[in-house]
Amino acid sequence: QPVRLWGGRFTGASDPLMDSYNESLSMDRVFYAQDIKGSIAYARANVKTGILTQEEFEIIEKGLGEVFKEWAENKFEPAPGDEDIHTANERRLGEIIGTHIAGKLHTGRSRNDQVATDMRMWLRDELILIEEYLVDLLKVIAQRAEQDIDYLMPSYTHLQRAQPIRWSHFLLSHATAFQSDLERLRFTKKNVNKCPLGCGAVAGNAFGIDRVQMAKELGFDGLIMNSMSAVGDRDFVVEVLQCASTIGSHLSRWSEDLIIYSSLEFGYVKLADAYTTGSSLMPQKKNSDSLELLRGKSGRLFGAMAGLMMSIKGIPSTYNKDLQESVQPMLDTVKTLKDSLQIAARSLATAKVYPEKMRAALSPDMLATDLAEYLVRKGVPFRETHHLAGRMVALAEAENKGMDELSIEQFQGVDKRFGSDVLSVFDYERSVELKSTTGGTSRSAVLEQLEALKKTLGSR
Ligand code: ARG
Repeated sequence: QPVRLWGGRFTGASDPLMDSYNESLSMDRVFYAQDIKGSIAYARANVKTGILTQEEFEIIEKGLGEVFKEWAENKFEPAPGDEDIHTANERRLGEIIGTHIAGKLHTGRSRNDQVATDMRMWLRDELILIEEYLVDLLKVIAQRAEQDIDYLMPSYTHLQRAQPIRWSHFLLSHATAFQSDLERLRFTKKNVNKCPLGCGAVAGNAFGIDRVQMAKELGFDGLIMNSMSAVGDRDFVVEVLQCASTIGSHLSRWSEDLIIYSSLEFGYVKLADAYTTGSSLMPQKKNSDSLELLRGKSGRLFGAMAGLMMSIKGIPSTYNKDLQESVQPMLDTVKTLKDSLQIAARSLATAKVYPEKMRAALSPDMLATDLAEYLVRKGVPFRETHHLAGRMVALAEAENKGMDELSIEQFQGVDKRFGSDVLSVFDYERSVELKSTTGGTSRSAVLEQLEALKKTLGSR
């Protein structure tokens, strides 16, 4: 029978399947550094409470240093009774410094406040990386938007051709979404970085431990004020998974756009070989796999979030073992998100853009709104001009011509108010440049967006 930390009151045998069902070391071993740091802070604070002498603290600190080294060098050997990272580290500490002193470390502490502390520390550090990768993606978008500002392309609503825009404007539409994600992420990071240590199993600490000092030592921005909530909630994980899901939905739609644009029928972009794969059967194939994986993996992010919310929504207050189920989706989401953000940035940075294809996809019918607005500028009410422009679209269609190939007489045959300058409407640059209000697609309006984006990226 494995030796268990909590085995005193147990007499019956254990079931090996239950042991493996219950264990979390295979996942929470990634918190080893946080667990050890937390234990050192806890031991230090327990010198002030009188639980440990200064000398005992130093022995514990040194012993924990050795445990840390074993993990770091991949030499830590789990024993059969090690359920999780907390029991593993305490067991090993006892072997190194003797159980008489090691056995004092857990006074007033529970794995309940310990695991919540470890998870928050781990997550906070990962969020710093995720934020970095998100900023990198935004920088790649900003760079492309700046360098490709001359390229015009169709915009789409309902995936039907709508109005001419700048390719940079399209890129910045996605940047705007990722910018909101960045704001949300920064807010979430603050919520994650609150310290539950010193709350014990449920009711608080009976030895007057200095929670503020421990939180400071561990780099937290504050405390979770209520001990029952501190050990019993995983809202901070849910919040990160929600953030990740929103980022995932944005990455997925961005990918979907680029998948469409990289089909031969569009041909606006081509991914670099490094982010595509071929077919085992069809020799000619080059598939945009990185984008498809981004789209597919976003489903996994939503799944992790929905799954965790299902796991925790109906459990009673405070710690229940269900909460252990928050570890797997947290680890999976952090890895998926970190990888996805980097793959997205690299795919875009190395993609080739084909402005002539974008240009060739523009057609005069996309200027029907401009035609209506031409008459508006001559004082005709829009509802009327919309109808007249629509008739010109129908006429061109009937003649199997572009609207720009119709004669002035044909325009004036529909309405006398079309002037001899009407054909000046059929100029894509002109159309784009007219949208110069903030948020529009003219060069100046796009540059304004770009400047605003660059400013947020600089002020981190
Ligand atoms: N491994 C557990 C978790 O991740 C922490 C252990 C708390 N266990 C307990 N029996 N109170 O939630």
